[in-house]
Amino acid sequence: MTTQHSTAPIRTAVTVVGLGPMGLALAATLLEQGHPTTVWNRTPEKADGLVAQGARRAATIADAVAASPVTVICLKDYEAMYETLDSASAVLAGRVLVNLSSGTPTEAREAVAWAGERKADYLDGAIMVPPPAVGHPDSVFLYSGSREVFDDHRPTLAAMGGPTYLGPDPSLAVLYNTALLDFMYASLNGFLHAAALVGTANVEVAKFAELAIGWFLPAVVGATVLAQAPQLDKGDYPGDQGTMEMNLNALEHIARTSVERNVSSDQPELMKALAERAIAEGRGGQNYLAVFELLKKPTPSS
Ligand SMILES: NC(=O)c1ccc[n+]([C@@H]2O[C@H](COP(=O)([O-])OP(=O)(O)OC[C@H]3O[C@@H](n4cnc5c(N)ncnc54)[C@H](OP(=O)(O)O)[C@@H]3O)[C@@H](O)[C@H]2O)c1
Repeated sequence: MTTQHSTAPIRTAVTVVGLGPMGLALAATLLEQGHPTTVWNRTPEKADGLVAQGARRAATIADAVAASPVTVICLKDYEAMYETLDSASAVLAGRVLVNLSSGTPTEAREAVAWAGERKADYLDGAIMVPPPAVGHPDSVFLYSGSREVFDDHRPTLAAMGGPTYLGPDPSLAVLYNTALLDFMYASLNGFLHAAALVGTANVEVAKFAELAIGWFLPAVVGATVLAQAPQLDKGDYPGDQGTMEMNLNALEHIARTSVERNVSSDQPELMKALAERAIAEGRGGQNYLAVFELLKKPTPSS
């Protein structure tokens, strides 16, 4: 008879710095998945619940970083990261820092140089889901910068969500994050204005959402973008199925209907002005997606 010993995989010890709603979710998930987890937060009491679940609360930020080979940083912004890690400078050498705080592409590049000066390995990342979705393999976490750090620590990164590596340019994760949020806010505003318009006829938002989100968004908006994306890359905007002039007509109707129905006309006026500028640039016979050419340039000063 043979005896089988169960050998649970050894998980990397991780420190989580920053226990806002997102940092709390990251630390709880790492703990649940068996990573020895040390936590630090400017306001230490926020760690109470995690400590009750088995996390170790570090007394200082230097103790926190020294406790684990990998430190996940989830603070308000890069400035908070510098302020926080300043007093841990002596222990940063040889450690891996995974920064999931929001910022700008330039801030991400500067952070790589900052970590390099302190001989720490650095990976920049962005979380694309809200706290309750942390830990799910389908929840996208974007990373860019050192491929080596990404590959070496992939299992730890995968514990927090589905890791996607975008490339060696460290600014890519925050740039994608900003672009996707830009898309999200514009889409939400578009839906909310449309719901306000049909709301003037007492249509319930849930009923309108069935058609607008359930069918129109994937079948018309999404399908158009997916079909036209290669032409967007080429700057080719054939107007044989509908021209910018025709779309301006539609935008005028949206603006006029908004006024007629006593709802805000800011958004349709903005979109109308963009189509008018495209026509003034000689794009009246191209399709609507030619506004891409205007959006790729800075707004002309009036
Ligand atoms: N929540 C989300 O849905 C979500 C989704 C994706 C990405 N994110 C990103 O994740 C990061 C954290 O977000 P969050 O939702 O947890 O809340 P947050 O309000 O953006 O950040 C809160 C954390 O930052 C700390 N902090 C702020 N200023 C500080 C400073 N000057 N020095 C030291 N610590 C400082 C807070 O410490 P105290 O507790 O002491 O105040 C707390 O730990 C952000 O960059 C956010 O954009 C959040």
